[in-house]
Amino acid sequence: MQTIATLHMLRTALAALRADGGRVALVPTMGALHEGHLTLVRRARAEADHVVASIFVNPKQFGPSEDLDAYPRQLAADAAMLEAEGVALLWAPSVEAMYPQGFATSVSLAGVSDGLCGAARPGHFDGVATVVLKLFNQVAPDMAFFGEKDFQQLAVIRTMARDLDLTRPEPQAIIGVPTVREADGLAMSSRNRYLSPGERAAAATLPRAMREAIDAMTSGAPVAGALAGLESELLAAGFASIDYATLADGRSLEPLAAFGTEPARLLVAARIGGTRLIDNMAVSPAP
Ligand code: PAF
Repeated sequence: MQTIATLHMLRTALAALRADGGRVALVPTMGALHEGHLTLVRRARAEADHVVASIFVNPKQFGPSEDLDAYPRQLAADAAMLEAEGVALLWAPSVEAMYPQGFATSVSLAGVSDGLCGAARPGHFDGVATVVLKLFNQVAPDMAFFGEKDFQQLAVIRTMARDLDLTRPEPQAIIGVPTVREADGLAMSSRNRYLSPGERAAAATLPRAMREAIDAMTSGAPVAGALAGLESELLAAGFASIDYATLADGRSLEPLAAFGTEPARLLVAARIGGTRLIDNMAVSPAP
C-alpha cells in the first residue's frame, strides 16, 4: 500500500492503478479506524478491483466549539490496518494540500441538510459536501462506500451526486453499509473513545431504548409517546441532553408524525458527558 500526501503523487499512483484496468472504489474516512471502517473496506474489496482509502480530518465540517483539535489522529496505526485489509492507496492529504491558500468554494445543499444534525451543527454538511466532492474529483472512483451510521450524511452525499450529475461515482454507485455495533449494541464510532467507563456503560441505553421505541411504534403506540419515552429513558440513564429523537421518512428525512407503510428511520443524537453520540435504525411495519 502506498500512502500519498500530495495531489500530484495521487494522480500518478491512480494512473498506474487504472493502467491495470478494473474498478476503483473509494472509502473516505477521518481516520481513528475501527471495525465499522474496516467493514466498509471489506465491502469495497469485494466489489472493486482496487480500493483507495482516504484519511482527512476535515476542519470545514467541525463547528468552532466542536472537537476538531481533540479528534483522534493515528495515521501509522490506521495505515497498518488498511494495508492488512488489502487497500492499494491511502490518500492522506494535509489541510494545506486539501485547502490551499485562497480556497473559496463551498458546496451547500438545501432541504436534506437542514434538519437533524444540520440544525444542531450549522455548516457541518456544507463542510462534508465540499470535502466529499473534492475527494470524488481527486480519486474519480467507480464507486464509493459510506457507513449508514451517518445516515443523513449519506442522504446529503447522494443528493449532491444526483443534483450535480456526478459520474465518478454515479449516484447509484454511492453505497451505504449497515452500522457495525459493539456487543452491547452501541454503534461503533471514533468518538466512543471519548467516553469514560461509566459513560460507556450508560451509552448502551441508546440502542436499547431506540429498539424499545421502534417496538412500541410498530405495535401501534403513538409516535410522539414512543419518542418521549425514548428521551426519558436516555435522561434517566445519565445522558445530559438530546439534540433530537425523530421518526423520519427513510428517503427524504422529513419528520413523520405517524408511522405508515413507507420505510421510516428513527434517528437520535444525544450528549453524554462531553460526547455527542448519533444512531439511527430502520423502522419497518410489523409483519
Ligand atoms: O464520515 C466521515 O468520516 C466524514 O464525514 C467523511 C465522509 C470522511 C467526510 O469528511
